[in-house]
Parts: sequence; structure tokens; C-alpha cells
Amino acid sequence: MPATRSSTRTNPLRDPRDKRLPRIAGPCSMVIFGVTGDLARRKLMPAIYDLANRGLLPPSFSLVGFARRDWATEDFSQIVHDAVKAHSRTPFREEAWRQLSEGFRFVQGTFDDDDAFDRLAQTLGELDAERGTDGNHGFYLSVPPDAFPVVCGQLKRSGLAAPEDGRWRRVVIEKPFGHDLESARKLNAVVNSVFPEESVFRIDHYLGKETVQNILALRFANQLFDPLWSAHYIDHVQITMAEDIGLGGRAGYYDGIGAARDVIQNHLLQLLALVAMEEPVSFEPSQLQAEKIKVLSATRNILPLEDNSARGQYGPGWQGSEKVCGLLDEEGFSSGSTTETFAAIALEVDTRRWAGVPFYLRTGKRLGRRVTEIALVFKRAPHLPFDQTMTDELGQNALVIRVQPDEGVTLRFGSKVPGSSMEVRDVNMDFSYGQAFTESSPEAYERLILDVLLGEPSLFPVNDEVELSWEILDPVLNAWAAAGRPEEYESGTWGPHGADAMMARTGRGWRRP
Ligand code: BG6
Repeated sequence: MPATRSSTRTNPLRDPRDKRLPRIAGPCSMVIFGVTGDLARRKLMPAIYDLANRGLLPPSFSLVGFARRDWATEDFSQIVHDAVKAHSRTPFREEAWRQLSEGFRFVQGTFDDDDAFDRLAQTLGELDAERGTDGNHGFYLSVPPDAFPVVCGQLKRSGLAAPEDGRWRRVVIEKPFGHDLESARKLNAVVNSVFPEESVFRIDHYLGKETVQNILALRFANQLFDPLWSAHYIDHVQITMAEDIGLGGRAGYYDGIGAARDVIQNHLLQLLALVAMEEPVSFEPSQLQAEKIKVLSATRNILPLEDNSARGQYGPGWQGSEKVCGLLDEEGFSSGSTTETFAAIALEVDTRRWAGVPFYLRTGKRLGRRVTEIALVFKRAPHLPFDQTMTDELGQNALVIRVQPDEGVTLRFGSKVPGSSMEVRDVNMDFSYGQAFTESSPEAYERLILDVLLGEPSLFPVNDEVELSWEILDPVLNAWAAAGRPEEYESGTWGPHGADAMMARTGRGWRRP
């Protein structure tokens, strides 16, 4: 039986609350470990400010930074201030900032320092008493996974992991959740030895994106698409996450990890799960998770792996008008690094709905442009009653979910070219978020941090999803490890030749978004 979360929420069909009303977190505090890191500065602190600015945090909300630096609370406050000014989504309002920053505290220490964790416990106790955070505390581990055991151990030792009755303690962990199935299992065991599964929130920030949640609306709120959503009409699915940035400054995290572990194991397999899963009984977290688990359990690599996967490493090239160096010349990467910066794999979902439909997943750094999309590419019409020259420019129909940056949905189909002949050519019909809605979308981290504080687990992968994803990826990683160096591709292009060859073997080609 897969482990799913039980939910304390009532049946949504009978729940009288108006779900359009803003959901505001109750009294609580959040501790961030790894507060000096890039993620905290660029994403977490700005998201917390944006939530406060939107009135979604309680007045007592308190934020505690924990780090080795010899800072006072004022220094910490200044760091958050600078991060918010540089990266927050909503405008800076003095009043919102003043109220939020009154709840800032900083605790200095290392992870193996018992005294520091005792001081943390004392600080949280004071916040409960002075500001009314009420014994509800979240712990955000924005730290490398090898630090999880010691931090979890300290939270247990200092009594911080165990709440009093009616209060909560939650732990938020960032990927990578291990580097293969075995290490993921060990990591999960360590975390679960301190926090019960329902208190563990694993961040996959793609699930916090509006366009990713819209996959569920598109599929399950409409009648139009479902009849087409299967092997009867779909030829294949392409899931692309392309980035134009390189890895300068990220060697510490990325070297030895590579593109497949960095984003296929999590973001892209989650996208596949949402596209391929069956309709859940409801959007209760346990129902949604059960469907994702089912589909990931049915997902397999297409064999042989050497023909159905590709990897590459970016070499020098041009990114727009800028000349850029190759990975091996980026600071921190050794000249012998075999880390892949491009990865593509072919999967099949072994169910009645998807039998015979390949799912192609690809991701890369320093590609032609930044774009994430899911394209469902349809089979060709079984018969075309046109003169063949009239349909030379007709491709395959496609439904493209544009995750970013130009968020929306595109339907691609053939249309008559104006004129006296019956020439048919591809055209696009577009839905664009920017044009259809006036509200701008919250950042993924706003949504996810708020959900942690509310105890709403729907958008967080459970243990089984993580392990199943590693089960899918491990054989590919092992095959690559045995195969030597990845192929070099020129920066600013769409990846290694091997990726094109992999598609060409099946008579298909990658989309050029
Ligand atoms: C992260 C990866 O999870 O996602 C990064 O570790 C990647 O390598 C980033 O750059 C991309 O996120 P987004 O939201 O910009 O697509």
C-alpha cells in the first residue's frame, strides 16, 4: 500500500467554505536553515514578504534565521530587506515591512552545536510568549541533503520536533532528495524517524506554478480535451524544460549532480504524472497523490537505453549577442567533469490509456532560449482528401501547455491558406494568461510556503513519489555512468546531436519552441 497522507480537511463537496476567499495562515513562526544561501535570498525571503504584503500571514508571524555567520538580528533584518527589495514580486510597502520585520530573530550557530539549538528553542519559546506564535513552528531546511540528518537530529534532541497537543511542527525539505533510490530511502528514513510523514513537506517548486496547477483544470474541468487524451489520438508527448543560463557560481551544487538528477527526477516527472494520471476522486491530497503514485508506478524507460536517452555538456558558444564559455571553463568545475548539462529520456506509461505513446523528457542549460512546455502531439489524420502538394506545410496537430515564460495554452492545427487553392498550413490558437486575467500569478514559493503554514499537503510530493521517480531514473544514470563523457554541444543551440538522433530513430523530431 502506498503511504499517502491523511487529511484533516472535510469533504470538499460538502465543505461550505467559499474557496475563493483568501486563506490566511494561523499564528506561527518559520525557521530557515541555510539563510545565507542563494535560494533563501532570491526566493524564500521575497516570497515571505510577498505573502505578508498580500495580508496572508498572521500579525504574529515570526521568521527566525539560523546560520553560522556572526550576525545580530539587525544584520539579518538588513539581509532580508535587501533580498526583498531586489527580488520580491509585489511593491515594497514600508508598513508591511515594518510589521513583518518586528518578528525577525537570528540565532547564530553551527548544525552540530547543541547550545545553538537550545538557544533556538528558547527563542521560539519567547516568540510564543511575546508574539503569540502559539507553539506552531515550521523548519525550512534550505541546506544540502547531507546536513538533513544532523539538523533533524538536533530538532529532535532539543524537543523542537515534538509539538504539544493541538500545535504543529513541520519540516520543509528542498531537493535533491538523495542522488539515487538507495540514498533517497536512507534520507527519507532519517527524516521520518524525527517527523511523521504528514509533517514532511518536500518542495518541488514546479508544483507551485499556476500553469502547472492549470494542467488539472484543463484536463478535469473541461469536456473538450478528455476524449482526445489517450493513445487513440496522441502520437507522443514532449516535455521540455530549456534554460539559457549557464552554471557559473553553481558548481558546488551541480557538479556530480547533473541535469537528470537536478530536474528530471523531480520537476519533469511530476509534470508527466499530472499529464498522464487518471482523474482523482477529488482534490483531497490523498486522492491526488494516489493517482500520481499509480501513474509513476506504471512508468518505464523505453529500451534499449542507449538508443532512447541522450546527454550532453555545453561547450563555448553564443547566447544571443554574448560569447559564453563552456562548462569546463566555468568556475569550480574541474577539466575532467563528466556532469551532464543536457539530458533527454524516453518513457512509456504502461496503462490502457497510454499504451504505445512515448513520453520524451528533455532539459538543458545554455540552450536556445528559456522555455518550459508540455506538447501533446497528435497522430496524423488517417486520410487527407487533398492534393499532396497542398498539405506539404501541414504538421501534426498539437496541444501545448506553455508553463513559462509566456504562460498559456496553444492549439496547433491546419488551416486553409487564403487564396484560390486548397492549400493547408499550420496555425496556432493561443490562450495567454496575461491577456485573459488581470491578476498576476503568485510566485511558486509564495503558494508553497503558505501551504506549509496552512498544513495543506496537495502540492508536495510524498515519499513514494520520490522513490518511484528514482526507480525510473536510476537505470539511465547507471548506463550513463558506464558510458564515459557526455557529448559536447555548442552553447545557444538546442543540445547534443545525440538528442536529435534519438528522436530521428523513431521518425520524430524535437519541437523548436
Ligand atoms: C531548480 C533547478 O529546481 O529549477 C535549477 O535546481 C533550475 O537548476 C531551476 O535553474 C529552474 O526553475 P524555474 O522556476 O526558473 O524554471
